[in-house]
Amino acid sequence: ERLWLVVPAAGRGRRMGAELPKQYLALAGRPVLAHTLSRLHQAFPEARLCLCLDPDDAHFDASWVPFDQWRRSPGGTERVDSVRQALTALAGEARDDDLVLVHDVARPCVTVADLQRLWAALREDSAGSLLATPAADTMKRDDGHGHVSQTESRSGLWHAQTPQGFRYGLLCRALNEAVASGLEVTDEASAVEALGLKPRLVPGRRDNIKITHPEDLALAEHILAAQQG
Ligand code: C5P
Repeated sequence: ERLWLVVPAAGRGRRMGAELPKQYLALAGRPVLAHTLSRLHQAFPEARLCLCLDPDDAHFDASWVPFDQWRRSPGGTERVDSVRQALTALAGEARDDDLVLVHDVARPCVTVADLQRLWAALREDSAGSLLATPAADTMKRDDGHGHVSQTESRSGLWHAQTPQGFRYGLLCRALNEAVASGLEVTDEASAVEALGLKPRLVPGRRDNIKITHPEDLALAEHILAAQQG
């Protein structure tokens, strides 16, 4: 069966407060995007890539893409719109039972071992699977005004990461229905859950961080160095 990789990279990364979108900031001498694609390529050299890029992106350089078979698709307003555009771009070629992994460009520290474990889980689980870590902090809900209204039990709570993987046909249907019904879709799994299915939680590493804030870059550099050491 074929594997498609969808990499949303069309965000403008406003929370970084930098001039360059975060996927182009330098991490150990190379752009974040180049690191992320190279990890994916190490794990899945034969996969086909669809990269979601802002149509006005002036920073992208195709020499950062290590895949033989790849294409770009235009990003949308929200992340979910970017992912749906990519799935539409594959429609002529992808079969319903092909596997699709969606991985945020902003997670360059994902390891080859975790990628392969996720892929193995995905092949066995018809509802798909995602990397996730159990919540370690005590969880508070606010009252909307900066005070605690309640402490939530953290037992059974997980942080969802990417990649998240599903069969192509299921993922298209889930995202179409979720968007049509007005659901806020911040990851693929939530759309699949809304169909009444239960994607599998694959315990991942806590160092698969998403670069969001400026201090995350230094942290990611440290993580990459530690993983290589
Ligand atoms: O902003 P955030 O970190 O949540 O974005 C997650 C991922 O989705 C990033 O890789 C970003 O580039 C991508 N994205 C996108 N299209 C958007 C918004 C975000 O591809 N409209």
